[in-house]
Amino acid sequence: MEENSIPRENLKDVLGRAVKDLRISVTDRCNFRCSYCMPLDKYEWINRREILTFEEITRLARLFVGMGVEEIRLTGGEPLLRHGLENLVIQLAGIKEVKDLSLTTNASLLREKAEALAKAGLKRINVSLDTVNPEKFQVMTRRNDLANVLEGLFAAKRLGLHPIKINSVIQRGVNEDDILDLVEFSRQNGFWLRFIEYMDVGNSNNWVSDKMVSKKEILDAINARHPLKEVGRHDASAPAVNYEFLDGIGNIGVIASVTEPFCIGCTRARLTADGKLVTCLFSDKGHDLKKLMRDGASDEDIGSFIRSVWGRRADRYSEERLEAMNSGEYQPNSRRKIEMISLGG
Ligand SMILES: C[S@@+](CC[C@H](N)C(=O)[O-])C[C@H]1O[C@@H](n2cnc3c(N)ncnc32)[C@H](O)[C@@H]1O
Ligand code: SF4
Repeated sequence: MEENSIPRENLKDVLGRAVKDLRISVTDRCNFRCSYCMPLDKYEWINRREILTFEEITRLARLFVGMGVEEIRLTGGEPLLRHGLENLVIQLAGIKEVKDLSLTTNASLLREKAEALAKAGLKRINVSLDTVNPEKFQVMTRRNDLANVLEGLFAAKRLGLHPIKINSVIQRGVNEDDILDLVEFSRQNGFWLRFIEYMDVGNSNNWVSDKMVSKKEILDAINARHPLKEVGRHDASAPAVNYEFLDGIGNIGVIASVTEPFCIGCTRARLTADGKLVTCLFSDKGHDLKKLMRDGASDEDIGSFIRSVWGRRADRYSEERLEAMNSGEYQPNSRRKIEMISLGG
């Protein structure tokens, strides 16, 4: 159901960055325990009463769209664990100013849910997959689910949810020897592969820079087998730099937030499952929109609050991290950061 047009403004932060993308975490829970993201057995989960309802999420999404947001991505935790997610997709797909509505998932439940999501209006899917080796998969996620993930990927492909992007995080000593297998798998099946440099999100993954495999190392490994040419970013705010294979079969991208930070082009706002607005992946705090809503604030009041948070935004964490790493002063765990499962990647 399409709703009335939303009047639009062009909100900018202190560094002149607009708010164009909204990442919505629909749950902080996950059925995997990826070593780079959520390695611990137990977390302090958000109380279910504090999780935004689909109506609350849609209300906030419409306010963000009014401030310039054009792309919405659903994430988590594992978003497919959220019961009835397709009903949220229907509501968000009804906002006609949203040009792109997508989902990031570990795909373990995708086979069962892909059709309902596609019918609801989901446009694209990103699947996280760091190896196509079943034993390695078990070690990295602590779950024996590779077959389900692959079935989910192919179900989405059959439904025409194109392009399907695969996100792979590469860690030294863990899966750098899986880079070429991931490339072959993606080329053979028409998936768009995106490598993500291992980042120091949150504190529980105990990130150390030595474990991060750089964009240059990833490209060198691929180029030695399949020569590539750079085609650049899709647009100025896109995190990935894209490459095509010289033989014309497929493409890859690399998101190099550690070695080549792109803070200056960052137009992403994040909404946590309990309704906090977070302005950077490496933030230590969010700004509570749920409390405002549940205390009865009007759309105008919530809009003013969002405007004041974004208007004061000066985050450039990844650029600062690189400066500190270059001068040998970087201490990854020197301050608390919100965990990736709460933020939504
Ligand atoms: C937090 S997950 C949430 C969505 C879903 N559970 C999934 O795995 O796709 C979103 C993305 O963040 C990425 N991610 C998590 N921790 C990361 C880290 N330390 N460095 C780089 N990417 C990370 C994951 O690989 C995934 O692509
Ligand atoms: S990356 Fe996704 S699947 Fe893996 S633990 Fe984090 S939220 Fe779960």
